[in-house]
Amino acid sequence: MAILEILTYPAPVLQAVSEAVDGVDDETRRLMEDMLETMYDAPGVGLAAPQVGVNKRIIVIDIRSEEDNEIIMLANPVIVESDGKFTYEEGCLSLPEFTVEVERKKEVTVKGLDVEGKEVVIDAEDFLAIVLQHEIDHLDGILLVDKVSRLKRDMYRRKVKKGLKAVKKEKSERENI
Ligand code: NI
Repeated sequence: MAILEILTYPAPVLQAVSEAVDGVDDETRRLMEDMLETMYDAPGVGLAAPQVGVNKRIIVIDIRSEEDNEIIMLANPVIVESDGKFTYEEGCLSLPEFTVEVERKKEVTVKGLDVEGKEVVIDAEDFLAIVLQHEIDHLDGILLVDKVSRLKRDMYRRKVKKGLKAVKKEKSERENI
């Protein structure tokens, strides 16, 4: 396994729509494992392939809670059902020093392919549901900066240009997803 570089805004790869994978082969499995290691190292609780420069529909998640203590590695994840509303202040490994309150679905059912290439269905609620929605947004090139006004987005872009890139690993109290 290897720790990959996490790209930050405004890298174009983060803003592109990613392609579905054609089944889970060894290369995809290796990418999933490298992404997981990269996520733990960051540290974060979720990571999507575009964040490591790969426009493929792959996500990894481990929210490390006692109730939902499982590693999720999914290819081609799709939300097939959703319900309710849940608002949470989100951060993102690709957006240093940026958080925003986002209203999302409280419950989601997500279908995708697991590490073996088998189709799996995940029922999630609350924080795990938020993380799944956040990571799937990444696959469509949607970032937290797209959830705020153009003015705020431009302010953040200017801040980044001024040298935020130098800040490698900022300390954040938020979980980075
Ligand atoms: Ni993110």
